[in-house]
Amino acid sequence: MNISIFGAGYVGLVTGTCLADFGHTVICVDKDEEKIKKLRKGIIPIYELGLEELVHRNLKEKRLSFTTNLEESIQSSLALYIAVNTPNSGDGAPDISNINAVAVAIAEHMDEYKVIVMKSTVPMGTCANVRVMIQKTLDEKFSPERLAKNPDIDPRMPDFDLVSNPEFLREGSAIEDFMRPNRIVVGTESDQARAIMKDIYRPFYLFETPMVFTTLETSEMIKYAANAFLATKISFINEMANICEKVGADVNMIAKGIGLDRRIGFKFLHASPGYGGSCFPKDTLALIDIAKNVGYDLKIVKATVAVNERQKKWMIEKIKKIIGNLKNKTIGILGLAFKPNTDDIRESAAITIIEGLKKDGAQIKAFDPVAMNAAKKVLKDIRYCNDAYEVMEDSDALVILTEWNEFRYLDLAKAKKLLKKPVLIDTRNIYEPERMKRLGFTYVSVGRK
Ligand SMILES: NC(=O)c1ccc[n+]([C@@H]2O[C@H](COP(=O)([O-])OP(=O)(O)OC[C@H]3O[C@@H](n4cnc5c(N)ncnc54)[C@H](O)[C@@H]3O)[C@@H](O)[C@H]2O)c1
Repeated sequence: MNISIFGAGYVGLVTGTCLADFGHTVICVDKDEEKIKKLRKGIIPIYELGLEELVHRNLKEKRLSFTTNLEESIQSSLALYIAVNTPNSGDGAPDISNINAVAVAIAEHMDEYKVIVMKSTVPMGTCANVRVMIQKTLDEKFSPERLAKNPDIDPRMPDFDLVSNPEFLREGSAIEDFMRPNRIVVGTESDQARAIMKDIYRPFYLFETPMVFTTLETSEMIKYAANAFLATKISFINEMANICEKVGADVNMIAKGIGLDRRIGFKFLHASPGYGGSCFPKDTLALIDIAKNVGYDLKIVKATVAVNERQKKWMIEKIKKIIGNLKNKTIGILGLAFKPNTDDIRESAAITIIEGLKKDGAQIKAFDPVAMNAAKKVLKDIRYCNDAYEVMEDSDALVILTEWNEFRYLDLAKAKKLLKKPVLIDTRNIYEPERMKRLGFTYVSVGRK
């Protein structure tokens, strides 16, 4: 099938590439000319395991192409996926202007039946509004007055259907998540669109992937409900961690002890400096805003957000408690990305914590295996290092903020020599307190003695 994907970011590029790998002919469209130039040369603008190889293979097989030309990509495809960014507009509500821009372009250029597939995360009612917007443009374009004035226009108004198909992939394992999803959610009222979606995702039937067919609004809400629930799990275990520190319990054992209960499960029960990334922070705020607009006070999700903000601040306090006055102290930071295996620093707890430490006078040295280029755009006056050991040299303390695998087996004898004082603040609980004590470190983690 011919498919166009609008927005070649984390979601659009992964979706387009994986669909091309299934055998579809896919055009990825983006308004960012530089990005498209790079992609055409096979240069991948984001860090995502396995993506480069997959893009190269499908470029070579000519199933995947990249363009900034909206008109051509709209006309040459049956399915038009919208995967543009929907950032927080500042007051919690997502900014859907990118969605509207693509919708207007589709309405202007579509010439025959299209299935418009919403992959972006959007508030309930957005797909229905997009449908009204497109229909309005078509009605104007094909009005009897306009047709009478322009006899060259083909008078047959094209038909279209809207589908909500939220994406659940996680950065860092996006290809695996897309190729082997837990479920696929499709919201539509049209039998024709449902049949087309089934055809696009036919390869998933091999793995017996469950498909949830529902309405547009329910599908849109499933995405928010999923992210709010996962974010709540994170804030919950972080609250447990904070109590553990006060009562002498161990949050890792708490997570194991409750996670073994299949009704609860292990996932998203890691004590941490708080969730970040491009989804949980914005989607929780969006859901609170959506609820407020319908007169509902969403207490649990509000608490989740508040706990997450407090958690980041508590990490700063934890560091200050160990080091004392931060003026003229050098803090070595390991990890800037919001989680391992991605270069995404959007809403990363590391960024908030570093800014807090700087505000209190600390000098910062930092290293991240892949996120330093992204970080350099937002964190200016810190020293970026070439590896973890350069970070340690003459630092008053070492702070692990992202649990990259390469930070799990640091040469601790070398670390002790390089650091001014053997102080390790491990906000991801990747080292064992007993061992660190034996090695002579002042060691602090989250929710453990
Ligand atoms: N990143 C994730 O892990 C993830 C997971 C699930 C869902 N989502 C949702 O998917 C959507 C996209 O997220 P992302 O992280 O891929 O965003 P992104 O910022 O990585 O990429 C968005 C791309 O859209 C392009 N774009 C914006 N307006 C455009 C327009 N009018 N025409 C063409 N291109 C345009 C941008 O240039 C950019 O390249 C968001 O709604 C997000 O909430 C993201």
